[in-house]
Amino acid sequence: MSESERRLQDSVGETPVVPPDIDTTRPSVARGYDFALGGKNNFEIDRLAVDALTNVFAGALPLARDNRGFLRRGVRYLVGEAGIRQLIDVGSGLPSAGNVHEVAHELDPAVHVVYVDVDPIVLAHARALLADNNTTTVIQANAADPVSILEAPETQEFIDFDKPFAVLLSGILHHLNDDQDPVGVTRTFKDRMPSGSYLLASNFLDDDDPRAKAAERAFIDGGFGTGRFRTWDEHRRYFDGLELVEPGLTYANDWQPDGHTPGDSPWHTFYAGGVGRKP
Ligand SMILES: C[S@@+](CC[C@H](N)C(=O)[O-])C[C@H]1O[C@@H](n2cnc3c(N)ncnc32)[C@H](O)[C@@H]1O
Repeated sequence: MSESERRLQDSVGETPVVPPDIDTTRPSVARGYDFALGGKNNFEIDRLAVDALTNVFAGALPLARDNRGFLRRGVRYLVGEAGIRQLIDVGSGLPSAGNVHEVAHELDPAVHVVYVDVDPIVLAHARALLADNNTTTVIQANAADPVSILEAPETQEFIDFDKPFAVLLSGILHHLNDDQDPVGVTRTFKDRMPSGSYLLASNFLDDDDPRAKAAERAFIDGGFGTGRFRTWDEHRRYFDGLELVEPGLTYANDWQPDGHTPGDSPWHTFYAGGVGRKP
């Protein structure tokens, strides 16, 4: 384990320590999301960018928890009901608890997970968290370049491409700009999947509410630089060629809700999610 990983591991759940290779002069989506989830691995620059958002989007922080809930239910479905044993989690972030491999391993400790993120702080955090885990790995790659994810040596080692696998795109496609072709990204993943594989996607939604445009500007201009709110039609295209699992593409909180899903989240109409199966 490197010095930065050791220092970050020491910081998990406590006061953050700045690993030497982390840029704290610019806000990071991963660290801002960590702040929204009540984590400690964030800095003032990240919190200011979140404030720029909540000035427009007051009371919206629970959206981060709602998204984690959707992802947890999705992973439980994929492993528990669909029988998937291999997961590629793109834009995985650095939550201190309830990570995809933890949710999956509650159901089957043999599930393989490849975490992917572009942010070096996520890599340091994940390597510290996964130090003793031989079913789960992490790579640094850009979601806009899915071939680099599929061809990475760790992915090739952990994923058997002849067997069904799932690609998780939770809270990540909205961080790709239109010229990075998020629909094309999903197509590349789907093309590599054998029949019986799954794609999960959840992202910001523009459901014809003018506040979505304001929130999008706050994301893009407020420091993070990314954060597109896309229409239902744009979301639907992510699932082209797939059979949507019930109840289809919905507000994320309406997707197979369980006893933990809030019924009254005021911003739930700004977030859509779905899971599709390759026939
Ligand atoms: C909102 S968080 C979502 C975390 C997690 N998937 C979830 O749903 O809770 C977005 C994550 O995507 C990462 N990210 C942003 N742009 C990315 C890109 N182009 N390629 C890979 N990861 C990216 C960020 O670093 C961050 O960790």
